[in-house]
Amino acid sequence: MKHLLSLETMPREAMEQVLRDGASFKQQRGNPARLPLAGQTWALIFSKSSTRTRVSFEVGIHELGGRPLFLNANDIQLGRGEPIKDTARVLGRMVRGAVIRTYAQSDVEEFATYSGIPTVNALTDDEHPCQVLTDIFTFQEKRGSIQGKVVTFVGDGACNMPVSWIFAAAKLGFELRIAAPKAFQPSPDILRRAGGKVHVTEDLPAAAEGADLLYTDVWVSMGKEAEAAERIRILGGYQINGALVKRAKPQALVMHCLPAYRGKEIDEETFEAHAATIFEQAENRLHLQKSILNWIVS
Ligand code: CP
Ligand code: NVA
Repeated sequence: MKHLLSLETMPREAMEQVLRDGASFKQQRGNPARLPLAGQTWALIFSKSSTRTRVSFEVGIHELGGRPLFLNANDIQLGRGEPIKDTARVLGRMVRGAVIRTYAQSDVEEFATYSGIPTVNALTDDEHPCQVLTDIFTFQEKRGSIQGKVVTFVGDGACNMPVSWIFAAAKLGFELRIAAPKAFQPSPDILRRAGGKVHVTEDLPAAAEGADLLYTDVWVSMGKEAEAAERIRILGGYQINGALVKRAKPQALVMHCLPAYRGKEIDEETFEAHAATIFEQAENRLHLQKSILNWIVS
């Protein structure tokens, strides 16, 4: 049985297959060659807000012939304290797969263990694998293979997005630079586990020099709202703006996983100048996640 719980554990060959097939799902939209989820119901269990992930999975499961069943974690007994492992054993007898957005990575792993059904991590505090695979797909659509390229992540270097980028870098052979203040740098343990060419620095201009892709994410991730004022103070300046873009390669892409906070991690002008790429990234969630689901059930 296959799961997508993290990019750390996803085999490189699987990543390559998912990235390759994503293009076919994009091309064949509306005229699919096969319906790999025909007759299946998949549960979407979300403990955090979502626009892109929820809609792209609901539409994607439907377009693959299946039925999505959205469950807000607060509306089911899980929200009143029923253990994950009991929820998993119930749902595992009723649905064919699960897509989960929650806080603890261990909760997604426990669900996968106890449910006996394919389980997809739709964002935890530790990782956002579907987003990073989509971002790499989007980069490769526009610029060819990411192997040997330079990706610079700007901002909160310790949250789910950079961690998934770190695990992807070693497997797909690109250089990753993370520009973040000391308090928001990835843990040495993650860097050691991942290996690969990952540089972490406080020197934002140097990190952007000659980059092929500048990437950022919110300074205040979901669940960190109580730290908002302190994060905004410490992360202030770790922003993608016109001056930073000038340091990257002339054809560099600027990406954002969204939602974006103008004036914080990116300025309005730069965001709008790169909106075509950023919203194609958002659309690609649909195509790439169909490819992920197809890989999981095949
Ligand atoms: N990028 C992303 O996962 O967006 P949502 O939080 O809207 O799903
Ligand atoms: N780091 C962000 C990603 C949102 C898609 C968060 O966890 O809120």
